[in-house]
Amino acid sequence: MVDRHKSVVLDGPAGVGKGTIAKALARRLGYQYIDTGAMYRTAALLALEHDIPPEQPHEHEIARLVLAHPFLFVFDGPLLRVFHGDREVTDDIRTAEVSYLVSPVSALAAVRKGLTDLQRQMASQGNVVMEGRDVGTVVLPDASHKFFLTASDDIRADRRYLELQQKGVEISPQQVRKDLARRDHLDSTRKLAPLQQAKDALVVDTSNMSIEEVVNCILGKIGN
Ligand code: DC
Repeated sequence: MVDRHKSVVLDGPAGVGKGTIAKALARRLGYQYIDTGAMYRTAALLALEHDIPPEQPHEHEIARLVLAHPFLFVFDGPLLRVFHGDREVTDDIRTAEVSYLVSPVSALAAVRKGLTDLQRQMASQGNVVMEGRDVGTVVLPDASHKFFLTASDDIRADRRYLELQQKGVEISPQQVRKDLARRDHLDSTRKLAPLQQAKDALVVDTSNMSIEEVVNCILGKIGN
């Protein structure tokens, strides 16, 4: 069973600062960090590479590929590296093609079931910070520390644009805004495990807060 007192859950839409905040929290607490979005992105990457359409008749094929290897999240200096088996997927899962494909892939029941089981298993030792969309509602509903991060649409789009620019991705601010709106819509309206705030999650609006302020706020709430 999961040690309820050692699972910190962070859910929220894209561009809210979740990744940066979850990583900082995991480092400060010395906990294992699990990015469930990176797992769905890996499923989308594999579907892309194997030319498998993200549609229901192919859901088991995509699930089989992504479940064929374990995931590992490793802190390396300032970086967080993501491994799927022996393969490092850190950069490959952040391309525009993968970002486009990830919403339909993550709506497939077999993919969700497989990855949800795997995420529960990965969290079963406790001492984890897990971020995603449905972690507080579906993956770890018993976690004692649940946070739902929000920020205004403008701020989320600005943050995502800056992040992509820093990575050298060529994209216009208008396109970033359009992509975010599309992903928000798909993620929150899908039938299975949509992006949703858990009733017992604490909402943190990060619009006017620095990363450090959010991290300290969360650490304060969980009593560290
Ligand atoms: O956090 P992210 O932007 O890297 O997530 C990529 C996509 O994965 C997101 O658009 C929806 C999906 N996802 C999901 O369906 N469930 C999760 N727990 C995490 C992410």
